[in-house]
Amino acid sequence: MYFNRFILLLTTLITASLVFDKKYTERTDVNGQTTIISSLENTKIEKKVEESEKLYDENKFIASKLATTARLANHIFELVSIYGIARKLRRAPQIYVLDKKYEKLIEGMQKVMPGLINEFEIKHEKIVPKTAKNIEFNVKCCVFEDLGILRKNENASLIYSTGHFYQSYKYFDEFREEVLEMVAEKKDFGKLPVDGTKICIHIRRGDFLDGQHHSTQTNFTLAAYNFILETEKPTDPKIIIMGDDLKYEQSLFPKNSSNVFISNLSPSDDLIYAKYHCDITLITAPSSTFGWWISYFSKSQKVYYQDIRVTNDVNFKKGELEPLDFYPPNWNSLILTRSGGIQKT
Ligand SMILES: *[C@@H]1O[C@H](CO)[C@@H](O)[C@H](O)[C@H]1NC(C)=O
Ligand SMILES: *[C@@H]1O[C@H](CO)[C@@H](O)[C@H](O)[C@H]1NC(C)=O
Ligand SMILES: *[C@@H]1O[C@H](CO)[C@@H](O)[C@H](O)[C@H]1NC(C)=O
Repeated sequence: MYFNRFILLLTTLITASLVFDKKYTERTDVNGQTTIISSLENTKIEKKVEESEKLYDENKFIASKLATTARLANHIFELVSIYGIARKLRRAPQIYVLDKKYEKLIEGMQKVMPGLINEFEIKHEKIVPKTAKNIEFNVKCCVFEDLGILRKNENASLIYSTGHFYQSYKYFDEFREEVLEMVAEKKDFGKLPVDGTKICIHIRRGDFLDGQHHSTQTNFTLAAYNFILETEKPTDPKIIIMGDDLKYEQSLFPKNSSNVFISNLSPSDDLIYAKYHCDITLITAPSSTFGWWISYFSKSQKVYYQDIRVTNDVNFKKGELEPLDFYPPNWNSLILTRSGGIQKT
């Protein structure tokens, strides 16, 4: 957000001038070079200020309607994508808090990605200004849309998108490093391991057993796990299961295995854990955005997922999910063969 950025700059300036003062007193008694040092330092500071302010053009903003009734990982997709689009268009991102659900969404997001929320200007007036240019952008959940239609409205002060979900890495991947920095700090993750090679397996059944989505299947999950062991040859492998079906998760691997950990963290802490600890991730329900974000955040970026093209996922069948837009190209897609083996696709 503009304001926060400004505060940050002020802090930088003050810190910098304090440092400079120290340098100044240290160097005055040496020789007459102090004035040269001083102007160099000042130029550096001014340059920094200019660069940060130039991220967005003056009086250009972008905001979107948000899918407030969806879940945490959907919110992450929406806000990270809007941030990415804002950066590409040089428009400062805003959130219009239209009702209580928007407040809840912001609260939830603050736990996982406080740095992302700081980038947005939060507008509490409960109404989108009448002067906003409404554009229906990204109507299919998981198909990347070219920004052309937004660029055409370059002269609008505020662009308000009435689309939703924005589930494509293409909206923000060029800002990947910054996005990862926005994730909350490391914390105590209870009984989950912090050493060994941590293989994080995401399980989604619950609402995914609706016949619309492809939910976790045991045969794929176990075969894929073995495939990962053969491929990555991890030292001291630890399995961390994150999911929405405790009983099922407990039944997946032998009960007595000392290297299997079933996460009891909150969804936001699972995501934070992934950033600092997951070396390898396995997405077993391919359209799960939660499995997706665990993987995108994950520490070592070795990602394996069930190839959605061999499933009956409704969004994929309807053309609402384009695999090339949804899954980053460096992730590995796998299929279970008829004989029960795993093949990379
Ligand atoms: C935006 O405004 C500028 C300056 O008035 C003008 O040159 C440009 O054609 C306008 N762009 C569009 C897409 O209308
Ligand atoms: C753990 O479970 C496996 C499979 O159920 C079994 O083969 C093995 O003997 C068990 N190990 C111990 C120490 O109980
Ligand atoms: C894997 O399990 C699913 C669900 O139980 C079943 O429909 C499918 O045929 C199995 N696939 C193989 C290759 O065994």
